[in-house]
Amino acid sequence: MAVLYDESRRLFKLDTANTTYMIGITEDGYVGHVYYGRRLNRPGGEYLLRAKEYAYILSVNAREKEAFLSSFPFEYPTQWTGDLREGALDVMNEEGQCGCELFYRDYEITAGKPSLEGLPASFAGEGKAAEGVSTLRLTLTDPVLEIDAELIYSVFEKEDVITRSVVIRNNSGKTRILQKVYSASIDMDAGHYEMLSLTGSWARERHIRRRPVGIGKQSVGSIAGKSSHQENPFIALVTPGAGQDTGEVYAMNFVYSGNFTAQVQVSQFDSLRMCMGINAENFSWTLESGDHFTAPEVVMTYSAQGLGQMTRHLHDFYRGHLIRSPYLHKERPILINNWEATYFDFDTEKILSIARKAKESGIEMLVLDDGWFGKRNSDTSSLGDWYVNENKIKGGIAALSDEIHKIGLKFGLWFEPEMISPDSDLYRAHPDWALQLKGRTATMSRQQYVLDLSRQEVRDYAYECVAKILRTAKIDYVKWDMNRELTDIGSAALPASRQQEVFHRYVLGVYEMQERLVTEFPDLLLENCSGGGARFDPGMLYYSPQIWRSDDMDPIERLRIQEGTALVYPLSCMGAHVCCAPNHTTARSVPFETRGHVALSGTFGYELDITQIPEEDLEMIPGQIAEYHRYHGLIAEGDYYRIHSWSGEEPWDVWGSVAKDRSEALYTFVQVLTRPNVRSRRILLPGLEEDTVYRLEGTEECYTGGELAKCGILIPEMRGDALTKLLHFTADTRA
Ligand code: DGJ
Repeated sequence: MAVLYDESRRLFKLDTANTTYMIGITEDGYVGHVYYGRRLNRPGGEYLLRAKEYAYILSVNAREKEAFLSSFPFEYPTQWTGDLREGALDVMNEEGQCGCELFYRDYEITAGKPSLEGLPASFAGEGKAAEGVSTLRLTLTDPVLEIDAELIYSVFEKEDVITRSVVIRNNSGKTRILQKVYSASIDMDAGHYEMLSLTGSWARERHIRRRPVGIGKQSVGSIAGKSSHQENPFIALVTPGAGQDTGEVYAMNFVYSGNFTAQVQVSQFDSLRMCMGINAENFSWTLESGDHFTAPEVVMTYSAQGLGQMTRHLHDFYRGHLIRSPYLHKERPILINNWEATYFDFDTEKILSIARKAKESGIEMLVLDDGWFGKRNSDTSSLGDWYVNENKIKGGIAALSDEIHKIGLKFGLWFEPEMISPDSDLYRAHPDWALQLKGRTATMSRQQYVLDLSRQEVRDYAYECVAKILRTAKIDYVKWDMNRELTDIGSAALPASRQQEVFHRYVLGVYEMQERLVTEFPDLLLENCSGGGARFDPGMLYYSPQIWRSDDMDPIERLRIQEGTALVYPLSCMGAHVCCAPNHTTARSVPFETRGHVALSGTFGYELDITQIPEEDLEMIPGQIAEYHRYHGLIAEGDYYRIHSWSGEEPWDVWGSVAKDRSEALYTFVQVLTRPNVRSRRILLPGLEEDTVYRLEGTEECYTGGELAKCGILIPEMRGDALTKLLHFTADTRA
């Protein structure tokens, strides 16, 4: 078992293949964080708790309790009893007073991994996958509040991952109000670190940002009711200069799709606290006696070998222990989506003409996007009225789906089930179903409101709208969109004391609906989307094996979005399409080949009017489709190597996917700008076996894995804009 309790040292030791995490208990029963880092063979290091440095033992001398609590490395810090740093737990008693202190009570070590009630969570899996997965539950208690905090740590040995979550139980016979419940916190010595986060905006999501960690708090977060375009629920502490192969990395990623806080704080005593959880702003949760609250899961990993190892561990972890879809290891149908081809202006004939042309080119699925329902001829109306607009789609969705299937394509449909347009029959019938604050006109965004999914009857209605269509028409794929932030956080159905639960109840509502959907339609391929990539998080991956990465399909813009996204999430889950030129977001025109090569590192598809594109582009599609079929397994299942970022000094971007058995690798080189008069450039291609000889596809050139990684390959100077090269190496059986 990867979890061990050393009773003599009062020390828990959690081991993964390359890392060790240790938790200690002081004489007074405080539960402290001892160590997280490179693997240790034996338990030890309990002196790092520095429990006696303040000459403080609760029963003997409480004089400097505040200084002690403010410097002790807590495993799960609490608020308002002495520790002046950020607390993970803040509880109000029946007097309206806040203050909490937790002491060790008992523990349990079990094989496997528990699920989390109502929440997405990683799982052990079956057979070989489940080997090396075990769980430690530490129960801490506050004897005054009479609440327990159950800290759950699951260890995934092979992937070097430890997950954490917390269950708070109220055993007091009285009401307790949770003001804040983070899911994970680690204290360590401050050292020198940088904080890495994935930040951006609509159409430029998840760009990698690094900033030095200084005294005080530095954080990212969301109060948008979703994980957001602006900041992804991921942070890493990295040693300065840490690169792909070097340096230390501590990473945290939140399996949650709503408001979050991810923070690093350096205190007066040079200690560093890294924490993650549901954002405490506009959050509270009333816990009646006997009730419990489950906080979502945090995924932690440590790498002593740079960001590359972190990335590969996270990719393996999400593919092996989080994404449940039957499509995870399957080739996804190559789709054509009509959004940028037609926007709202289409009818059956137009859609069928796209479908026919797509079929001729080898495309496998047509996705009908926004605009097929109600009176939706623009984004000003009809969300909530999920009945077909027969002026556009004569005979309805089932008839259209049949026609598309007759052409030989699968059929997918767009929904935005969480929203309501003020101009809709639904709103006219149920104005109180929109989130709103009493006495205020709710704030519109994209001229729409948000449905109050904290209410069961609203969820049932919204779910049935989708399910009814899926029950009557043959729908192979659903794109579940969500196009605005949450504001006006008020529910007409909850009492005053529970209004601050709306944000979290909303997210639980979305999870409940998606769980119902994948349970009722187990063969459905579900893609999540949120105005592009505003809900690209591990929570969503639990329900859908792919997420729309960004509305910005300009392949050059996508390079940075892809680099940041792939730092954490596997390529197999990134929606990626070939767009038309000039691109609708940036007005940039990029060669069709480049658009194809960049989209290949994701779930591949097209989003253009195939009936209108130049003949020479059309002719390239069958070749691109063949490339997808040839390489997708490698891209989806392989080890990802980030080799060069064009955000650096040299204007080219390089990444690769290496087969797990090292028999082949595909590297993609994109020249964003030319660099005249430099002649060939040397690019190192890591990941293959040192002594194995590999042949470059389409040539007689052979290289050993060692040569490729250490000497590199020469890419001749390319002239022109945004040119790409796919470099596919296979072990040379003749060697
Ligand atoms: C936002 C999505 O990201 C787009 O792909 C498209 O589906 C639109 N919404 C439709 O309104």
